[in-house]
Amino acid sequence: MKRKDLLGLRDVPAEEITRILDTAARFREVSRRRIKKVPTLRGRTVVSAFFENSTRTKLSFDLAAKRLSADTVGFSASSSSTKKGETLMDTARNIAAMAPDLVILRHGCAGAAHMLARGFDFSVINAGDGINEHPTQALLDMLTMRDHLGSLEGRTVAIVGDVIHSRVARSNIYGLPTMGARVLLAGPGTMCRPELARPGVEVRHRIDDVLEEADVIMMLRIQRERLDRAMLPSSREYSHLYGLDAKKLARASDKVLVMHPGPINRGVEMSPEVADGPRSVIMEQVTNGVAVRMALLFLLLDGGEDEHAQA
Ligand code: NCD
Repeated sequence: MKRKDLLGLRDVPAEEITRILDTAARFREVSRRRIKKVPTLRGRTVVSAFFENSTRTKLSFDLAAKRLSADTVGFSASSSSTKKGETLMDTARNIAAMAPDLVILRHGCAGAAHMLARGFDFSVINAGDGINEHPTQALLDMLTMRDHLGSLEGRTVAIVGDVIHSRVARSNIYGLPTMGARVLLAGPGTMCRPELARPGVEVRHRIDDVLEEADVIMMLRIQRERLDRAMLPSSREYSHLYGLDAKKLARASDKVLVMHPGPINRGVEMSPEVADGPRSVIMEQVTNGVAVRMALLFLLLDGGEDEHAQA
């Protein structure tokens, strides 16, 4: 792969997404071995810089880099010098001075990863920039969908909840139509606005308007940390109108896939019986996350020219 960075899915063509997903599918096997390690990225340095909280994404990138034998170091928000007043660019200059090959960045500001990618020679993977994009999450979502549905072409994916503040939704809104899928959005008017519509993406509002047609239902967490209080009357009302419980799920196809990027607020956007139920593929999403991140580290750092080197 010729690109230096992965900042978002907005401009990534279908062939490239397919290449990433195919490579990820091959890497899955490494995580099933007793010795979960291949020498592919030996001697390469990967820095993870997480300025916002994360459990899954950080662990997943760390494991992906280690399973490819890269040297990994990193810090998270609470332990960084940002707390002492250092700017992102100054932190980045210091990271650059230590010669990393790739930086994984999560940051509260939209565009932070783009700024780093423009300013420095190291590769950058955007692990979530404010409300903008979270491309590796959308890629692992697509890999999970592809496992169950074969192709994404002609499939319908309903995304429900706090769409406007969700970088996961935004990356899927860009990536899914590129792969030929149709996206239906539903959520309260304050969180699911008409301007989100684009070719392949329809805004519908009520959950009942999207359930029947969906091959996949992706539920989102309310992004309380990014929310104006006025946007939400109460969690109980939200849950009643937009939460996915067994009763609402019964209106969807009996083959529908239920997804969630995590962390779940059980009882708000999703009932425990649905989250842990037979239609849920949420843990598969997490497993696929490691493989997708291995694929991206490999393709960005190695170019993927010698596909056999990974075995
Ligand atoms: C998401 C995020 O951080 O954007 N989580 C994740 O990376 N799996 C979604 C969320 O926080 O709701």
